[in-house]
Amino acid sequence: MTSERPIMIRAASVRDLKAIWEIEEASYAAPWPKETFFVDITFNADAKYFVAMVDKRIVGFIGGWFKEGKLHIVNVATHPSFRQSGVARQLVLFLLDLARDLKMESTFLEVRRSNVAAQKLYEGLGFGVAGLRPMYYPDNMEDGLVMTKELCSAHAGD
Ligand SMILES: CC(C)(COP(=O)(O)OP(=O)(O)OC[C@H]1O[C@@H](n2cnc3c(N)ncnc32)[C@H](O)[C@@H]1OP(=O)(O)O)[C@@H](O)C(=O)NCCC(=O)NCCS
Repeated sequence: MTSERPIMIRAASVRDLKAIWEIEEASYAAPWPKETFFVDITFNADAKYFVAMVDKRIVGFIGGWFKEGKLHIVNVATHPSFRQSGVARQLVLFLLDLARDLKMESTFLEVRRSNVAAQKLYEGLGFGVAGLRPMYYPDNMEDGLVMTKELCSAHAGD
């Protein structure tokens, strides 16, 4: 395991949209529009977003929807200059802890079949592949792997 960079995690607000979107744009070939983050953070009562800070700089973010006993992790990204130093792992662990506090029973997410880095991240945190969403990503018709993890079981682990 790489040594972990110390970060501070706090709830995201609309004031963080610019920094979040800069990371989004640097991270994905088909980034979400800025408006999607705005709507999710402002109006979606099920959504919770958090940012990772190094000093006063936002270096990563994570978003999840907490609904019907399940945490759906909808986005996580680390600024390219801060990758492979444990930022995403700490963000995911933070969200999983919150989900347990909120009595969520399980968590799931979709990940591109080609996104090996993200799959390794989730596998390392105890997620397993549970299914496939054919042509889930409209930009290139790539399949999405569905990865899940139980949160309540004594054997859920991290
Ligand atoms: C995937 C991503 C979020 C990982 O962020 P990160 O902060 O660099 O990840 P971490 O440093 O916390 O790494 C945790 C684990 O992820 C895996 N991992 C991270 N980057 C990896 C890479 N380039 N290759 C292989 N495994 C990788 C490793 O298992 C790592 O554990 P280790 O340090 O014990 O080897 C980052 O590469 C990113 O922002 N990618 C673009 C956005 C994206 O794909 N998000 C996920 C959508 S499902």
